[in-house]
Amino acid sequence: GRVAVLAGGTSAEREVSLRSGAAVHEALRNAGVDAYIVDPSEHSLLSLSTEKVDRVFNVLHGGAGEDGRVQAVLEMLGLPYTGSGVLACALSMDKSRTKAMWQGMGLPTAASRTVHRADLHEFDAVTVLAQLGGKVMVKPAHEGSSIGMGQAASASELMAALNEAARFDAEILIEAWLSGPEYTVAILGDEALPTIRVKTPHAFYDYAAKYQDNTTEYICPAGLSETRENAVRTLALRAFHATGARGWGRIDLMEDAHGNLQLLELNTAPGMTAKSLVPMAAKQHGLSFQALVLRILELTLE
Ligand code: DAL
Ligand code: MG
Repeated sequence: GRVAVLAGGTSAEREVSLRSGAAVHEALRNAGVDAYIVDPSEHSLLSLSTEKVDRVFNVLHGGAGEDGRVQAVLEMLGLPYTGSGVLACALSMDKSRTKAMWQGMGLPTAASRTVHRADLHEFDAVTVLAQLGGKVMVKPAHEGSSIGMGQAASASELMAALNEAARFDAEILIEAWLSGPEYTVAILGDEALPTIRVKTPHAFYDYAAKYQDNTTEYICPAGLSETRENAVRTLALRAFHATGARGWGRIDLMEDAHGNLQLLELNTAPGMTAKSLVPMAAKQHGLSFQALVLRILELTLE
């Protein structure tokens, strides 16, 4: 059947998505699949219903493509699509509420506060900073690829980071600082793939570290003991299922200063660029990029 690869879009992660889309498209074509790229910023999704499309491979990152809106349109059109459904996508694009759900289910995630842009003028940075241990990470609650993120270890740095994050989002998450190491676990079907350790010389794993330079090291296998490797993968799989996610995705997590694992977030349409992490974990698991793409596509029908 014919496969539409959704890529591009209008979110801040558009450029990353176009790279994911090109890689997925090429892999599908090389496997003999009749695939074409659809950029919803130029092409109405509604027209997919008249274009004899059988399935949709979604690599839209962020915004409407990853937060359930595009998934809802595809449901209404009756088109099977890769990855998670409306609920898990909507939830996981909201970092604060995802953390609240994990906490409610007894899964570990760092202490945090969420503040609305409109309340920043009366925000008590001194108190919140002290409550969260004196050093924090600030994140737009609904962005990806580290866009708008900043760290703060003083009240003035915290206000500056909040104002920067507020350029991207009306809700801002302030999380207790995690010392690391940082890990990411790709989920494929009902399986957690080998853990990747992310080691960056940047102050944190920011946009530049992700896409623009080669100084970040990705270590897979991560060099953990078998027990620890299993603990990381088991936690990632539980966190994935807790949100109702399906098909594929990627859970990011970090160790705190006491060596406890803390969940950061779930990506329901993770990057599939040449530098991306799900393809790296798949390779360690014995799956080529092409085999990974075909497996994700196949999982839409299960
Ligand atoms: N949000 C980016 C694309 C990722 O998680 O890989
Ligand atoms: Mg993300």
